[in-house]
Amino acid sequence: MDTSTKKTPHLTLLISALLLLLHITAVTSIGVNYGAMGDNLPPPLQVAQFIKTRTTIDRVKIFDMNPDIIRAFAGTNIPLSVTIPNGLIPVLSNLTAARQWVGSNIGPFYPSTRFEYILVGSEVLHWGDAAMVNNLVPAMRSIHNALVKSNFTAIKVTTPHSLGILNSSRPPSSASFQFGWQKYFLTPMLEFHREAKSPFMVNPYPYFAWNPKDNNFALFKPNPGLFDPATGKNYTDAYDLLLDAVHVSMKKLGFGDVEIAVGETGWPSAGDPGMWWCTVENARWHNLNVARKAGSGVGTPLMPGRKFQTFVFSLFNENQKPGAADERNFGLFRPDFSAVYDIGIMRQSQPGGGGTVAPAPVTPTSGKQWCVPKSGASEASLQANINWACTDGGVDCSAIKAGGSCFNPNTVKSHAAYIMNAYYQAKGHQDYNCDFSGTGSVTTSDPRLVYPAFSLSRSPVRRPLEQDVYICYSLNIAIDFEMV
Ligand SMILES: *[C@@H]1O[C@H](CO)[C@@H](O)[C@H](O)[C@H]1NC(C)=O
Ligand SMILES: *[C@@H]1O[C@H](CO)[C@@H](O)[C@H](O)[C@H]1NC(C)=O
Ligand SMILES: *[C@@H]1O[C@H](CO)[C@@H](O)[C@H](O)[C@H]1NC(C)=O
Ligand SMILES: *[C@@H]1O[C@H](CO)[C@@H](O)[C@H](O)[C@H]1NC(C)=O
Repeated sequence: MDTSTKKTPHLTLLISALLLLLHITAVTSIGVNYGAMGDNLPPPLQVAQFIKTRTTIDRVKIFDMNPDIIRAFAGTNIPLSVTIPNGLIPVLSNLTAARQWVGSNIGPFYPSTRFEYILVGSEVLHWGDAAMVNNLVPAMRSIHNALVKSNFTAIKVTTPHSLGILNSSRPPSSASFQFGWQKYFLTPMLEFHREAKSPFMVNPYPYFAWNPKDNNFALFKPNPGLFDPATGKNYTDAYDLLLDAVHVSMKKLGFGDVEIAVGETGWPSAGDPGMWWCTVENARWHNLNVARKAGSGVGTPLMPGRKFQTFVFSLFNENQKPGAADERNFGLFRPDFSAVYDIGIMRQSQPGGGGTVAPAPVTPTSGKQWCVPKSGASEASLQANINWACTDGGVDCSAIKAGGSCFNPNTVKSHAAYIMNAYYQAKGHQDYNCDFSGTGSVTTSDPRLVYPAFSLSRSPVRRPLEQDVYICYSLNIAIDFEMV
C-alpha cells in the first residue's frame, strides 16, 4: 500500500473526524436517576443500551445495589452511582464489615462497571432512625477506607440529603442547617467531603416547595424575583435560591469550598385531577433549565461559574410508587422508551424513524464494519439521506462539496456512500445507524474493494477515481479517533 499518497488526506480526514465528533457531542448532557418501582419497566440491559445509544444522558444513579442493573452498565463506560440501603448503615460503620461489603458488592463488577459514587443511604438525616443517623459519617468513612484499601480510588463516597436539613432558605443569606444536625453530623460530614474530595449531595426540589403564588418562580418563568438585601442578589428562580441556601449553610460552618452535587430534582408531567401545575410543558421547562444550569458553568448568584453534577429525577414513570399520581409521573420516558418530552437529550433519529424507538438489540460491535447503500436504493432516497445527514444528522459534509476531497466521483450514490458511512462510524456502529429507512446495510467485507462495482460501473478502469473512493471510504471516523 502506498502510504506516502495516503498520508496527507489521512491527516485532513482525522481533523475533520475530530470536528465531526465535537459537533456531535455539543448537546445537552445530564445525569438521571434510574428508579425501578414499576412492574412494567424494561430489562436493565435494554435500559443501559438505550441510554448509551439513543440519549446523551452522561451518568446514572440507582437507589439500590441491584446486581442486574450494575451488570447491565458494564462496558458502557457510563458512570453509575449506587445506593447502600439505609438499614445497612449501622453495620457498615465497622471497617471490617465495610471491606467485606466492598469486596462482595463492588469487587465483582469493578472495573467493567464504571462506579462513580457510592451513596451511603438516602436522605438519612430526614428518614433514618437514631442508629442510622449516628452511624452515617462513620459508615461513609469506613466505605471510603475500604475502597482505598481495595485500590478503587476513583470511586467517591457521599450521601444525598433532602432540604429538610435546612432551617430556612428565604432569603438565602439567612439560611442555615437545622441546629441539631450541625455539630454532630454535618460538620464531621463536610470535613470528610473536604478530605476525600467528594461532593456534598442535596436534593433541591422547587416542586416540593411549590405554592400557587410562587408558580413562575418555581418554574423558571418571568417573575418579580426575590431580592436578598444582605447580599444584594436578586433571585428569579427557586432552584438557584435553594442551591445558594445550601451554600450559605455550608459556609456558615466553614465549608464554602466543598463541591455541591444535585442528587435529585425534577417535576412531574401529570398529577391527580386538579394538580394543574403538573403538566408536560412545566416538567419539560423545569428540567430543561436544570440541565442547562448543570453543565453550563453559569452557576448561581452566590456561586458564579460553578458547575453542579446533576441527576434529574427520573428516567421512567414508575407505576408502583405510592402516593398521589404526581409521584408516578416524574419520568422523562415511558416504560416503552417513548419520550414524555424532550429536554435535548435525544440523539438525532433516522429519517422516517419517528419519535418512539425500540431499544437497540445488544450487539457489541468490534472490528471493521461499514455502512453502504443497498444496491436497489433509489437515487431519490439516497439524496434524502444526504440531505438529512448533512443537516439534522450532524455530519460535516464539506468533503462531498465541489472541491472537497470526496467530491469525485460526483454521483449521488458515491456521495451517499461516504455520508452514510461517516454517520454510521461517528454514531458508534449500531445497526440502526445504518438503516436510513431501509436503504443502508452494514457490511463486514471491505467496501473499498467492491466499491467500483457500483460507483464506477460506467468506466471501471479509471484508477484515479478509484483511488479517491478508496480514500473516502477509509474515513473510518471511530477507528481513527480511538487511535489518537
Ligand atoms: C468490627 O467487626 C469485626 C468482625 O465482626 C470485629 O472483630 C471488630 O471488633 C469490629 N470492630 C469494631 C471497631 O467494632
Ligand atoms: C492501583 O490502581 C492503579 C491505577 O488503577 C494502578 O496503577 C496500581 O498499580 C494499583 N495498585 C495496586 C497495589 O494494585
Ligand atoms: C431557624 O430559623 C428561625 C426562623 O427562621 C430562627 O429564628 C432561628 O434562629 C433559626 N435557627 C438557627 C439555629 O439558625
Ligand atoms: C429582580 O429581577 C426581576 C426579573 O428580572 C426584576 O423584575 C426585578 O425588578 C429585580 N428586582 C430587583 C430588586 O433588582
